[in-house]
Amino acid sequence: MDFSNVYEDSKRADAYSKLEFPGTYYLAFRDLPTIFSKHVTGKVAMDFGCGSGRSTRFLQKLGFHTVSVDISEEMVAKAREFDPEGDYRVIEEADFSQFEIGSFDLIFSAFPFDNIPTMGQKVMNLSGLRDLLKEEGRLVNLVSNPEIYTHEWASFSTKDFPKNRDAKSGDVVLIIQMDTADKRPVEDILWTHESYMETYQKSQLKVVDIYNPLGKNEEPYEWINETKIAPWLIHVLSRI
Ligand SMILES: C[S@@+](CC[C@H](N)C(=O)[O-])C[C@H]1O[C@@H](n2cnc3c(N)ncnc32)[C@H](O)[C@@H]1O
Repeated sequence: MDFSNVYEDSKRADAYSKLEFPGTYYLAFRDLPTIFSKHVTGKVAMDFGCGSGRSTRFLQKLGFHTVSVDISEEMVAKAREFDPEGDYRVIEEADFSQFEIGSFDLIFSAFPFDNIPTMGQKVMNLSGLRDLLKEEGRLVNLVSNPEIYTHEWASFSTKDFPKNRDAKSGDVVLIIQMDTADKRPVEDILWTHESYMETYQKSQLKVVDIYNPLGKNEEPYEWINETKIAPWLIHVLSRI
């Protein structure tokens, strides 16, 4: 398949690094403090696919001690600019050999699986991450709901990409982020609920809980579809 990680690009990294939690992104993070309190014991965390460090800084504010990894040098360089004291590492695809097995209470993954193209690569990454979890550790995987690619949102547009409607699991889909200066479409990989369940099973991960955060009318955002359809899914996973 002809697919490359759009985040290995300094213009994209610069635009992404200015994002915090506007609009639709607010819903990706809103419920995480409660979810972590319920499912995670301990404060040793990895931020997998940390990008420019937004998700790491979020974990740090919740009191987690973080080590953060990404395959994009451009994104990690931005993360280090924000947080020169932080531990940010560029890794090769699915190479976790520098980390101790069974050492993390939480592995948080905010969006990288939208950009990891194949079942084989997803399983390779997830199996490696599973091995890094402590016995009672949790992997929290925040991913896009496939419906995000066929609707309009406070922070995203897909109306120019009618082919998204025909996409099957594993196909490339296009989406524009309205809150960044970089309006080039982002290429993601569509991955259905059924495919995620199969991926987790192959990776020896058990689904503990799934959250579908919906927008609420009283929130200070101009929700479009967010009150009816959850743009994101949050999978809480444990070792089998
Ligand atoms: C949409 S960004 C999200 C960044 C950050 N987690 C946040 O929420 O702001 C997705 C990140 O996943 C990274 N990524 C994609 N494939 C990856 C892989 N196989 N291993 C590690 N990181 C990956 C990309 O380079 C990118 O920085």
